[in-house]
Amino acid sequence: MSEQPKSVESQGLLGWIDARFPLSKMMREHLSEYYAPKNFNFWYFFGSLALLVLVIQILTGIFLTMHYKPDAELAFASVEHIMRDVNWGWLLRYMHSTGASFFFIVVYLHMFRGLMYGSFKSPRELIWILGMLIYVALMAEAFMGYLLPWGNMSYWGAQVIINLFNTIPVFGEAISEWLRGDFVISDATLNRFFALHVIAVPLALLGLIVAHILALHEVGSNNPDGVEIKKLKDENGVPLDGIPFHPYYTVKDIFGVVVFLAIFSGVVFFWPEASGYFLEHANFEPANPLNTPDHIAPIWYFTPFYTVLRAIPNPFGGFLMMCLAIIVLFFLPWIDRNPIKSIRYRSLLFKLNLWVFVITFIILGYLGLKPVTDLYSQLALRFTQIYFIFFFVLWAYSKPRSSGFWTGSFIVLLGSIILYDFFRSSGVDDPSILALTWWTLLIPAAYLFLTLLMPKLSNWDTEKEVPERVTS
Ligand code: HEM
Repeated sequence: MSEQPKSVESQGLLGWIDARFPLSKMMREHLSEYYAPKNFNFWYFFGSLALLVLVIQILTGIFLTMHYKPDAELAFASVEHIMRDVNWGWLLRYMHSTGASFFFIVVYLHMFRGLMYGSFKSPRELIWILGMLIYVALMAEAFMGYLLPWGNMSYWGAQVIINLFNTIPVFGEAISEWLRGDFVISDATLNRFFALHVIAVPLALLGLIVAHILALHEVGSNNPDGVEIKKLKDENGVPLDGIPFHPYYTVKDIFGVVVFLAIFSGVVFFWPEASGYFLEHANFEPANPLNTPDHIAPIWYFTPFYTVLRAIPNPFGGFLMMCLAIIVLFFLPWIDRNPIKSIRYRSLLFKLNLWVFVITFIILGYLGLKPVTDLYSQLALRFTQIYFIFFFVLWAYSKPRSSGFWTGSFIVLLGSIILYDFFRSSGVDDPSILALTWWTLLIPAAYLFLTLLMPKLSNWDTEKEVPERVTS
């Protein structure tokens, strides 16, 4: 007699599946019996919205691939064909191009939430690291996708970014040649970018996202109070401050999805180019190796790091600093070791520092969109300095420190900045550049004063007591 499937509670089709695959068990573990803190707020919409944008990108991408031609001779015209001749092609293309920008908007807000509520801290370090790997993969995905329309900005943008590898001593040229598959950006480059964009990187992204969510469900979500809800459970083992993810947060997330789709549709239907920020003007002309666009700038979500690159006069130095600006984010769990997670209970100085960081990131992004002028390149350097010092300050706020520590750090950091200014202005005899160098010095000096000396001069570093249970 053949062996019967083991008996299960569920009946019918579900029962049949459950006897062979843990469907109900997974639904329970990840939805109806996954207890999430009951105080999630606005900032907790963006994880599920990132999932939504991922689905939009994959679905629209599949249909675009049916009509797109990854061939340097045909690519530009095939995109025009999608826009003009393919039924609903314009909608697919605009959803995909707008989706790329919205992906970054959502992910930046999602990361900012992590910074505010200390969601990267123990025991969630791995969720953060997986998130950072997702972020890097997303940047690679967007960079390669941008070459595919084979417009003039696609061509020159890829040219500039791949040429960055030339700055690496000894192996640089060999590396960029290997990346391009040719001596210049060519059909070979387009072909490999297509393969990577449509299959390799999306697969990696999917795997990373599954790992990100599994890691989250292993340790449980953080929340706006930064309280670990697993510490207080009732007699059935249910966290006192937890509610089942389904139906409570599935319904909340559906509301977020509706609002998001309304905004997304508004942009797709009425403002798909976003005045050249989502689809750059120079990309409406086919790639032309003999005609460099007047002003080459990457798309907005890369520009903060592009500014860091341009802020350092030495090309290899700039390349290293740009990589470092991303790498440092991976180490956040070990930089900010303050046991208080949420911004709600941290000092006024922490709040100020975080807001300065956000403003700095936005200014770096703005500068990356602008052509290089003397003023802008000075500002690029100053805000790059603040970007990096932010992490030092965050580390410094991890525990109470002596007055000597704060004064010493202030002197050492400001001294190093001034020393670098002397070094870079030696040989400069244009008085207007020298004046700019010295007055823009006030920017990092004011930042250092605010973050390192204010704790001594005020009670702005007082932290609040963290409650045991979640509040609102
Ligand atoms: C495609 C991109 C991403 C997707 C689909 C995604 C998805 C999610 C989802 C569904 C959640 C749970 C819901 C929520 O807390 O909002 C979550 C939580 C989290 N994600 Fe992501 N994520 C992405 C990228 C990132 C990135 C780039 C980072 C940071 C580098 C990150 C860091 C975190 C952290 C720290 C949590 C836990 C938050 C908490 O419990 O307070 N994620 N993510």
